[in-house]
Formats: sequence, structure tokens, C-alpha cells
Amino acid sequence: MSTAPKTPDTPTDDRLPVTLPALADKRERGEPIVMVTAYDFPSAQVAEVAGVDMVLVGDSGAMTVLGYDSTVPVSVDEMIVLARAVRRGLKTPFLVADLPFGSYEASDAQAIATAQRFVKEAGVDAIKLERGGVAVQRARAIVDAGIPVQGHVGLTPQTATALGGYRAQGRTAQRALDVTRDALDLQDAGCFSIVFEAIPAAVADAIMKRMEVPVIGIGAGASTDGQVLVFHDLLGIYDGHSPRFAKRFASVKEEMVAGVRAYAEEVRAGTFPAAEHTYSIDPDELERYRATLAPPAGIAWGPGEEM
Ligand code: KIV
Repeated sequence: MSTAPKTPDTPTDDRLPVTLPALADKRERGEPIVMVTAYDFPSAQVAEVAGVDMVLVGDSGAMTVLGYDSTVPVSVDEMIVLARAVRRGLKTPFLVADLPFGSYEASDAQAIATAQRFVKEAGVDAIKLERGGVAVQRARAIVDAGIPVQGHVGLTPQTATALGGYRAQGRTAQRALDVTRDALDLQDAGCFSIVFEAIPAAVADAIMKRMEVPVIGIGAGASTDGQVLVFHDLLGIYDGHSPRFAKRFASVKEEMVAGVRAYAEEVRAGTFPAAEHTYSIDPDELERYRATLAPPAGIAWGPGEEM
């Protein structure tokens, strides 16, 4: 029996959880893998019902839901609150969470301890960490500790300052080789998957010929095994800077603002709440209640007043 979910139309209760072998099978079969970020219970439920394969509690949540101006300040405790909420809203997709900046670089022991917190406290299936270099050894240590790791190369927002800002990577021969080496090193370290972010499609295509694990692209062209987008970017909820690869598939923020504005207008006009939004009380009960409750000084209960 296949362990992959059926289609987005399959009732949620009939779907089987996505596993590592199911993801590897999809790659083998050339079936695109769909990944999206989520940061809370409702976004997780949306991802579940929409039938995606993987959900990432990205540290992009630092910006999209916590209002920081980069991913750098978010703490492990904050990320765990987000990951726990997502876990509660998901049944089928494979759940990955980002280890935030500063929570894994210092030592293997630090990296393993942080990854274990995400598994034990939030119930994630895997963690993701950024960059090659020292992160390769940290990835190996976490994998050896029994926790699946997804790598992330190219534009790595946690260290965007060192990369010269939020810009595409691998655009010279040397930088393309650097990205290639990082991807292959992470694969050798045992990562079950790698994210390629913001690299030329031709470079991604060349690296793909050397990859044996599922590669998920974001701004890396069409040759990767799957795609990931930030929930708030694809739905048009986030107002901050959107990179060119962040295609908007809906304009949800406009709908949200229109809804809250309509509510505010009705409250101010006195048309909300209407009779159908209020509760009644049996007239005898109301009478008994009033009889035992002295009216405020100078005020008499009006006839037929109902609560
Ligand atoms: O934090 C995030 O949302 C990510 C994706 C862009 C891959 O790392």
C-alpha cells in the first residue's frame, strides 16, 4: 500500500501521513513535491486540507507573524510555540521546523539539544538548518542522533548580511561552485532533503544531476524535485518586501481588511449586532430576575425589555 497521501480531494481522514520513504518515492517517480510554510493552527489546517506534501515552520515566521525585520532575532522558544500550533493542525504532511539562528552553530551538542527540543516539545518530523561550512558537521551530528535534517543552500536568510543582503546567490562560476559544494556536503552528511533558495535555474539544473535526495526549490527554477513558498507571500497576506520568485496566488489580506472594515462600519452604525445575533430569556424568568434585582437608583425596568 502506498504511504503517500491521495489527492487534495481525498477526505483528510482517509489520508496516510507522508513519510521519508514516500518523499523519496515521489522523487524517484518524478512527481513534484509541494511544500508550504505554516506558523499556526489555521495555516496548518489550510495546508492539510489543500493536500500539500510537506509543511515548514519556517523562521520566516519571525517576519510574517512575529513582526521582526529579519529571521535573526527569533528564539527557539518562540519557534517552538509556532511549531506546536502547526503540529496540532496537521495530520498528513511531513512537518519540518527551522532551527533559528544561533541555536545550532556553536557545537554539535548545542545543535542536537536544540533539534531534540523541536522533536520532543513540538512533535516535528525533521528540522532544517542553513548553509554549508560548519552547518554540515552540525547536520551530520543531528542525523547521527536520529533526527532527520533538511539542508538549505543558496540564499540563506539567517546569514544574509554576510552574503551581501537578500540577493540571488551562485551568479558567478566561483559562487555557483560554492553552492554546489554546500549542497553535496549536506547530502553526504545524511540530509534527507535540501532546499535551494534564489540561485540561477541553470546552476540548480547542473547541481540536480548530482543530487540523490529530494531537492525543494524556491527561486531556483523548475528542475528541482519540488517547490516551497511562504504561506503569507503566496496568499498575499504579507506586506513586506516580496522576492521575484514569490508568486501571489490570492489576495487574502485585502479580503481580511474588507471584512474587518465592514464589521467596524456596522458597529459604528448600530446595525451589528442585530436581533439574530442576540440571546433571549423566557419572559417569566426575566420577571423573576427583575423582581429580585433592585433597579439602579432612579431607573425603572421598562415593559417588555428582554435580555
Ligand atoms: O523560513 C522559511 O520560510 C524558509 C523557506 C523560504 C524555505 O526557509
